Amino acid sequence: MAHEIGTPLGVIRGRAEYLAMQVEGSAVKNNVEIILSQIDRVSGLIRSLLNLAKGDKTEESEAISVNTGLLTVLELLGHEFRKNDIEILNLFDYEKPTTVYGQAEKLQQVLLNIIMNSIHAIVKARESGRTQGHFIRFSRQDFGTQYAISIEDSGSGISKENIDNLFRPFFTTKPTGKGTGLGLATSQWIVESWSGSIEIESKEGVGTTVHIYIPKSS
Ligand SMILES: Nc1ncnc2c1ncn2[C@@H]1O[C@H](COP(=O)(O)OP(=O)(O)OP(=O)(O)O)[C@@H](O)[C@H]1O
Ligand SMILES: [Mg+2]
Repeated sequence: MAHEIGTPLGVIRGRAEYLAMQVEGSAVKNNVEIILSQIDRVSGLIRSLLNLAKGDKTEESEAISVNTGLLTVLELLGHEFRKNDIEILNLFDYEKPTTVYGQAEKLQQVLLNIIMNSIHAIVKARESGRTQGHFIRFSRQDFGTQYAISIEDSGSGISKENIDNLFRPFFTTKPTGKGTGLGLATSQWIVESWSGSIEIESKEGVGTTVHIYIPKSS
């Protein structure tokens, strides 16, 4: 697949570069540069998709701690929470081990994608006038054979038209250049590779809750 996409993209890029040289100094140059930068964007996306697909096959699963994963990501995002005045309500019981079978780095990627979406949704809610009392709440439930990790935010919420499209690759409501629309699609592939699932509930103008279900490691 890499060749089938990479080769034509390479040809297109080469011709566009050649064209850029030929139109040096003319008004067309600007358009050709836009074409070049958009080709690079597509190439970048395809590279990340291929890395993801490769990673799933080569990386072994092992027993990993959801508690550690969440604490790591929360620490990483501490600055974002403070900057955006978001209260973190952490109902996670870190005394209880929450061990699943997967890859620690992938788990962090999933949590990061979902929490970043919550931060963006809160910024959006503020922009539309709902300025006070914003939070992200984390909780964990034990369902016997699996854990549910829930992430609730007070952000913009999701409209009924959009709710069924969230996991579609490249679906985004963010402005061009801001979102690739791969965050949730990627997260779903990862969690499904562990035989888990992701569910999203939302109310426009109120907020969103993402539930991640992951089988226990034993
Ligand atoms: N917590 C949330 N609150 C409101 N809308 C959300 C939330 N999470 C996801 N969405 C909606 O789902 C869309 C898809 O999310 P996804 O993470 O897949 O892509 P993205 O955030 O747009 O881009 P990126 O690839 O950078 O993550 C978002 O554009 C947004 O409209
Ligand atoms: Mg996202």
